Amino acid sequence: MTTFRSIVSGCGSYLPEKIITNKKMEELVDTTDEWIIERTGIIQRHIAADNELTSDLAIKAAERALKDASLTADDIDLIILATSTPDQTFPATATRVQAALGMTKGAAFDVQAVCSGFIYALATADNFVRAGQAKHVLVIGAETFSRILDWEDRTTCVLFGDGAGAVVLSAHECEGTNKDQGILSSHLHSDGRYNDLLYVDGGVSSTKSTGFIRMKGKEVFRHAVVNLADVVEEALSFNQMNVEDIDMVIPHQANKRILDATIRKLKIDPSKVAVTVQKHANTSAASIPLALDEMVKENRIARGDIVLLEAMGGGFTWGSCLIRW
Ligand code: UT7
Repeated sequence: MTTFRSIVSGCGSYLPEKIITNKKMEELVDTTDEWIIERTGIIQRHIAADNELTSDLAIKAAERALKDASLTADDIDLIILATSTPDQTFPATATRVQAALGMTKGAAFDVQAVCSGFIYALATADNFVRAGQAKHVLVIGAETFSRILDWEDRTTCVLFGDGAGAVVLSAHECEGTNKDQGILSSHLHSDGRYNDLLYVDGGVSSTKSTGFIRMKGKEVFRHAVVNLADVVEEALSFNQMNVEDIDMVIPHQANKRILDATIRKLKIDPSKVAVTVQKHANTSAASIPLALDEMVKENRIARGDIVLLEAMGGGFTWGSCLIRW
């Protein structure tokens, strides 16, 4: 049966110019380069300039993705932007991107699922494409987490950074089997019972302020390894594939130890796993498209490869997306 699937027709990313190394962090809080590297793998993070907003990062990544896809804003039917650090409470940051790109038709909205945001946005975009409601969709993950960090809390401020990544999804006619090119499946999960393990202690309706990130790191770590391993097995089983079929895993980049523990549990060859967390720390919804763009630009993904994206974040939320490139 002929149907539509979403293929990734372009990728782009952007990291702000300013870099804060672990050595610099030593001057800000009671920490050491050694502790941060040993516990997280992080070496540095990029921080947005004072006048640089989430939308600015998103626009740069989006422009690069459009260029890579050889498309213009006129070709785009929909923009979905994953972020937990919007420019304003409303309107959606996606509409700022839409205006900056000069796009006057279609629709633009934000998705909020913290570090799983890009997977949620991709799954949503894919459903629009498969339903025949959009031909080209710009999917963006963009964050300025530096704005919600408590720079006196060493247990969180060393872990996060700012950045953006984007992909263009384009409708592609196919047979509807797991041999097709494009997104083969996406699986989303959440469990609100774990709200208080990773959250921001402010908000419009509660404190009328922005608040700061609070996290019970050890417990988040434990849940992350279990949930990520489960969601990978779910994606493989749904597509009647096994671990050996995967050519590249693009995990959410939170902590190198979480990546290592998850791939050990699943017995995935480490050379097939994208690791970029050392360069930009945890950029929440931006981390997967940042890592994906790097893997594509380094030619580590070839046409026909099976690429698995997976993430877990506050909520808890978690999910996967399996793509035949
Ligand atoms: O995207 C999803 C979001 N988040 C995550 O995925 C993060 C998940 N969790 C983690 O990555 C890890 O739990 C952390 C990196 C946050 C912490 O690593 P840990 O091995 O779980 O360390 P811990 O929290 O058990 O802390 C160990 C020690 C503590 O000292 P005591 O009580 O043993 O004396 C902390 O106070 O390390 C101390 N510590 C630090 N020391 C130096 C905590 N933060 C720091 C720091 N520098 N920045």
